[in-house]
Amino acid sequence: MKGLRENRKTEEIRTQFRETHLSVSDFIYPLFIEEGNNIKKEIASMPGIFRYSLDQINDELNEVVALGIKSVILFGIPLHKDAEGSESWNENGIIQQAIRYIKKNYPTLQVTADVCFCEYTNHGHCGVLCNHDVDNELTLKNLRKQVLAQAKAGVDMVAPSGMMDFAVREIRDELDKNGFHHIPIMGYSVKYASAYYGPFRDAADSTPTFGDRRTYQMDSANRNEAIKEAQADVDEGAAILMVKPALSYLDIIRDLKNNFNLPIAAYNVSGEYAMIKAAGKNGWIDETKVMMETLLSIKRAGADIIITYFAKEAARVLTPSIPS
Ligand code: PBG
Ligand code: ZN
Repeated sequence: MKGLRENRKTEEIRTQFRETHLSVSDFIYPLFIEEGNNIKKEIASMPGIFRYSLDQINDELNEVVALGIKSVILFGIPLHKDAEGSESWNENGIIQQAIRYIKKNYPTLQVTADVCFCEYTNHGHCGVLCNHDVDNELTLKNLRKQVLAQAKAGVDMVAPSGMMDFAVREIRDELDKNGFHHIPIMGYSVKYASAYYGPFRDAADSTPTFGDRRTYQMDSANRNEAIKEAQADVDEGAAILMVKPALSYLDIIRDLKNNFNLPIAAYNVSGEYAMIKAAGKNGWIDETKVMMETLLSIKRAGADIIITYFAKEAARVLTPSIPS
């Protein structure tokens, strides 16, 4: 009798029976852009990931393009922060500059901008404060301004990450009203209040000065609510739905894949990256193999798009012919 081991006999046979394949075009690579000059600063908890000023970013972008990565997502770190995060809608703010620079010099790269305020506010929360909590209405008004500034700078896609109610509706309306019908919205539809964002907050200088984000980001325990959040983004006009973080929420990725007909993105977040890097550095795991197994698991769970700090390293594994 033929068992299932027959299908695993050789690498050629295993390849034929393989159900999931990673590809470089699955990846979106995050970039941290800091206002200023001469900055190339490695993030202590994210080895291999740097903050760059625009004058230092060419080597990084040349490498990204050479590796076949088609898509980047930008996070800005401004020089000046204030209570509302007004630098985020300054037409000469760091993200607007970055969008113009990358679209001019690397026109084939798809540029997505993160749309949020935590990197721009002096209190580190994702919007305008009122009685020590983020006010939804006031923040929606500013979201319109931020997204319009990014659209005018030439952004290809926008990704609101603040978990404000009705953000996608407001942003879609603002874009359409101003003739930017072609710019899709990738909603951070299902974003949990997660301790896995720790290293990112060092990278983006966005740690809240008081409290936490549990009044806007989701409770980790909730699965039904994820469907409600995603449905709201679909109704409001999102083009892509995202789950974040990825690894502790693979069940949620699969739920969204099974319930919606839009592309599903998953954000393989900073803490997930840091843990693999740390164990790899210690020699406790085979870092490259664990990286590939991890990315594959996210895709197998149902992600069509994976936002990951591993994009460059994984691209090298997937395309071994590219010289380093
Ligand atoms: C900001 C934002 C965060 C991340 C992406 N956008 C952090 C947060 O919500 O505190 C996390 C990304 C990561 O950890 O890699 N809204
Ligand atoms: Zn934020």
